[in-house]
Amino acid sequence: MEKSTHQFRETTFNTIDPKGRISIPSRFRDIIRVGGERVFVTRFDMALNAYTIDQWLEVEARIVALTKTSSKMRRFRRFFIGGAAECVCDKQGRILIPPILRQYAELKKDIVLIGQINHFQIWSRERWGFRQDRDFQMGYQHVSVMPNEVQLFLDPRPGDICVDATVGGAGHAKRICQSIQPGGVFVGLDRDRAAIDNAKAALSAYAPMARLFNNNFVDLPQILDRLKIGGVDGVVMDLGLSLHQIRSSGRGFSFQTDEPLDMRMDRRDDRTAAELVNRLPERELAIIFKRFGEERWADRIAKLIVAAREKAPVDRTGQLAEIVVQAIPKVRQSKRIHPATRVFMALRIAVNHELDCLAKFLGFIPDLLNAGGRLCMIAFHSLEDRMIKKRFNELAKGCVCPSDFPVCTCGRTPQVRLLTRKIVRPGQVEVEANPMARSAKLRALVRL
Ligand SMILES: C[S@@+](CC[C@H](N)C(=O)[O-])C[C@H]1O[C@@H](n2cnc3c(N)ncnc32)[C@H](O)[C@@H]1O
Repeated sequence: MEKSTHQFRETTFNTIDPKGRISIPSRFRDIIRVGGERVFVTRFDMALNAYTIDQWLEVEARIVALTKTSSKMRRFRRFFIGGAAECVCDKQGRILIPPILRQYAELKKDIVLIGQINHFQIWSRERWGFRQDRDFQMGYQHVSVMPNEVQLFLDPRPGDICVDATVGGAGHAKRICQSIQPGGVFVGLDRDRAAIDNAKAALSAYAPMARLFNNNFVDLPQILDRLKIGGVDGVVMDLGLSLHQIRSSGRGFSFQTDEPLDMRMDRRDDRTAAELVNRLPERELAIIFKRFGEERWADRIAKLIVAAREKAPVDRTGQLAEIVVQAIPKVRQSKRIHPATRVFMALRIAVNHELDCLAKFLGFIPDLLNAGGRLCMIAFHSLEDRMIKKRFNELAKGCVCPSDFPVCTCGRTPQVRLLTRKIVRPGQVEVEANPMARSAKLRALVRL
């Protein structure tokens, strides 16, 4: 058999027909023809991968050689080689993808074919969109959560004035900027300097209309005043941490690596986590772990921290994680999450006064929205989501008279209409692509 010397390059948008057939672009077909019109299609990494016969034989041989070394590779071999199907190109240049592979890659109608030199990939357009967003943001390391849902509820239009109160990796921000041009104004805030520096680069194409501020979102009313903006058409807030902060900021947000116990989102703030851990009385530490982390073993953890700090300051994430592991009896330690997860989250919330900031924001935000203006909020912590839900319901209800009053005496009318009766959560495709999204809860409203 003749061996193809050509390579699969380029990206092509395509569709899959109702019978599950894909038309192969002519440049790809020329390569396949050399291999006798046959392609081997297999599943991997959320997409399908298609090889000509000679390329497939090479890949197979390499995988078989590797499977001699570990059981993990043997499982991979069963998945990758065992899942492959041989597809023949028909006279019209189409290949029929078996239903089981279509299902794996969630191929519905719109697809993307992506040349990968020795093979090409077949992606569902939706999954490919998620992956693209992820790759774009990998420099700063954050993957935006529910980007399509945020766009849907925020509904940014050309000429709108929109705010992203937590710019982070600028994923949501970029989509908003795209939608509000021409004539729009974008105001982006983040209390983390690194996020704002990244956003300046990521949004440089929108520089004249994108105004970025290294500020806490509680400063939003003053910032809008300074910009002489009376009201806005859309606000998004996506709480919590960016992947960058967790993985590579070196500021001790995670117990996965041993770092200084800092946890300040804004380094200009004065109190670090180490200061709280080493100075607060035992009782106050326990209250923080209970209130913000809902930690059952709060008292024991606080007690061990105080005992440890009498010998030496507890100022590294590794030290703190170790103390928490010692404080929780082995049999009670969760197998799903690291025992220190709740304590780290609680400390971070305390260091950054996260619930106080959210309460302030929820207090003033209705007054900043124009009529028809939308607010879209994503929370990861149940305490935050409860605060958002309560405030949204209050604003939507209007009247606050007791239920047994025959007539309304307070005279208050609804200020907003809820766009989400129940919380919106990320879909399965998104959670598979970005496991950090799994606990996200979105709520949205529109100002009346
Ligand atoms: C989950 S990330 C946001 C990701 C962003 N939506 C995106 O698409 O990339 C959360 C961001 O909120 C910022 N943040 C948290 N609390 C804040 C506050 N009170 N004021 C301003 N920014 C805050 C964090 O520094 C972090 O960068």
